[in-house]
Amino acid sequence: MELKSKKVKEGLQDIIACKTGICRIEVEEDRGILEYRGYAVEELAERSTFEEVAYLLLFGELPTKSELEAFSEELKELRELPPQIIGLLTNLSPFSHPMVVLRTAVSYLGTMDKHIHYRSHDVSIAKAKSLIAKFPTIIAYFHRIRSGQKLIHPNDELGHAANFLYMLKGEEPEKIEARAMDVDLILHADHELNASTFAARIAASTLADIYACVVAATGTLMGPLHGGASQKVIEMLREIAVPWRAEEYVKMKLERGERIMGFGHRVYRGVIDPRTLVLKRLAEKLARVKEPKWYQISLAVEDAVYKYKKLYPNVDFYSASVYANLGIPDDLFIPVFAISRISGWTAHIIEQYENNRLIRPRALYVGEACRKYIPLEERE
Ligand code: ACO
Repeated sequence: MELKSKKVKEGLQDIIACKTGICRIEVEEDRGILEYRGYAVEELAERSTFEEVAYLLLFGELPTKSELEAFSEELKELRELPPQIIGLLTNLSPFSHPMVVLRTAVSYLGTMDKHIHYRSHDVSIAKAKSLIAKFPTIIAYFHRIRSGQKLIHPNDELGHAANFLYMLKGEEPEKIEARAMDVDLILHADHELNASTFAARIAASTLADIYACVVAATGTLMGPLHGGASQKVIEMLREIAVPWRAEEYVKMKLERGERIMGFGHRVYRGVIDPRTLVLKRLAEKLARVKEPKWYQISLAVEDAVYKYKKLYPNVDFYSASVYANLGIPDDLFIPVFAISRISGWTAHIIEQYENNRLIRPRALYVGEACRKYIPLEERE
């Protein structure tokens, strides 16, 4: 194959790398469309729970009432962590970033799975359920251990989102908080071939075990150009501190050639990310009953970025004000994303296993070629 005649698509932009039945993104003239298994994300955010959405992503259909009850019960039974994992969380440095802790814990879970290499549909689904159920517990336990607080064990009376906030903060969340967390988890659950899901699918295409695939995804999500942006957004909002400083801040950053975190998107170019619209309404709702300044500064930043760069906020932007008003510590913003996205990652890993071809693209070599080898003693 003559590679030189082929054009390099930097960042694989607009390259279609696989088929999927899990998530559909379309960019129409004036809007972005996002569907999970054919259902509009806005409608799922309005009417569903995270458990329903996780079921939908894994099994392809919305659950019936009894299927949902059984699935939710199974997740509840799988929430608690083995003592070895609690030991690991206790031994890790309390200064570790919780995303580093999360990927380490996932890898450790792999060492405890006797059937780590089994990849049949049912076994993979069982592993997926266990990871979905355990992610919130890993994050909440690590947070409580590092801050010297006693562990709050999972509460079977609470759904996935509410239980996470309960284990994290030690008190049952208010209704508005539990629902806000639930909606946020629904909105982050899947997004087609984003960088972390692609990383998971590449690992799955080698037939690596599911823990290896999830570790690859978790590491990739942490980067500031992907899920890491949400933590950068809250750091920016704190730095700006008051809405009237937003414009001057944005202008200064752009003049220095820096990026404004939480803005721009590889796929939603020139249109707003549909998840942003839902999150913005959610942030506004919370701002009415909690601290209003995060939302107010965010509005001012959004206006300024549009004025100077014509860019729209992405999913990471308004989630920052939502998390701040839910009392989630800044460095748990990316782990909260992972708590949701593990449902999408595992659905994609299973889809890849079941219709696999090794993902192995090519690179155009641009270095010197056919060089004459010089023995060590003759080199200058
Ligand atoms: N701030 C300032 N300018 C930006 C930003 C931004 N956040 N995003 C894009 N641009 C500009 C680029 O400088 C470029 O401008 P130019 O044409 O004048 O040079 C133009 O918009 C196009 O940008 P690309 O680099 O081609 O966009 P790309 O598709 O490669 O990157 C990305 C997408 C990484 C998301 C980018 O928009 C970015 O860095 N955003 C900030 C980080 C962020 O919020 N990431 C989260 C994304 S959502 C998610 O992963 C969950």
